[in-house]
Amino acid sequence: MAEAFGPARHERSVWALRPGPPVGPLCLVIRDAGTTVGSLRFWEVMLGAQVILLLGPLAVRPELRGRGYGRALISEALRRAGEGDWPLVLVSGEVDYYPRFGFVPAAPYGIDWPGFVEPERLQLYELKAGALAALPAGPLAVRALPG
Ligand SMILES: CC(C)(COP(=O)(O)OP(=O)(O)OC[C@H]1O[C@@H](n2cnc3c(N)ncnc32)[C@H](O)[C@@H]1OP(=O)(O)O)[C@@H](O)C(=O)NCCC(=O)NCCS
Repeated sequence: MAEAFGPARHERSVWALRPGPPVGPLCLVIRDAGTTVGSLRFWEVMLGAQVILLLGPLAVRPELRGRGYGRALISEALRRAGEGDWPLVLVSGEVDYYPRFGFVPAAPYGIDWPGFVEPERLQLYELKAGALAALPAGPLAVRALPG
């Protein structure tokens, strides 16, 4: 199954949570001489009755990886996100990458992800102290768009 569908299965379920526009102030692009070096976007999603942030996609141009661009994108975005009202950031991503930024495994919190996901990829970042301890109950869902 996994071999047949590969990473596209993650992508399908995560994109289903992002039908609308991303959160503009948190979307970052690094450019060098007109070329995109890396980019990062966020969407708002519902966790139970609470609006939280979903991180990604994050990508750095392959030949420029390992030079700190990914770190710069995430650090700046988390700094900006911390100035907002969101309590938490959720990511479905590389297990070995996100802990360096303070993400913790989401598995103990029983996030009810809609669709296929590898549970170990789900990680949470606390933007507001105590948010993890007060994690809202209920499934993860698309945030309904106004109008
Ligand atoms: C993951 C990705 C965004 C990292 O970007 P990058 O600019 O190469 O990362 P950085 O140079 O900022 O790396 C920061 C640190 O993370 C480490 N790191 C980089 N990629 C890693 C990975 N995939 N897994 C674990 N650690 C990683 C680096 O070695 C570095 O460690 P250090 O601080 O100890 O030196 C980039 O590899 C990428 O675009 N990958 C393909 C798309 C992808 O996987 N996106 C993330 C989806 S979850």
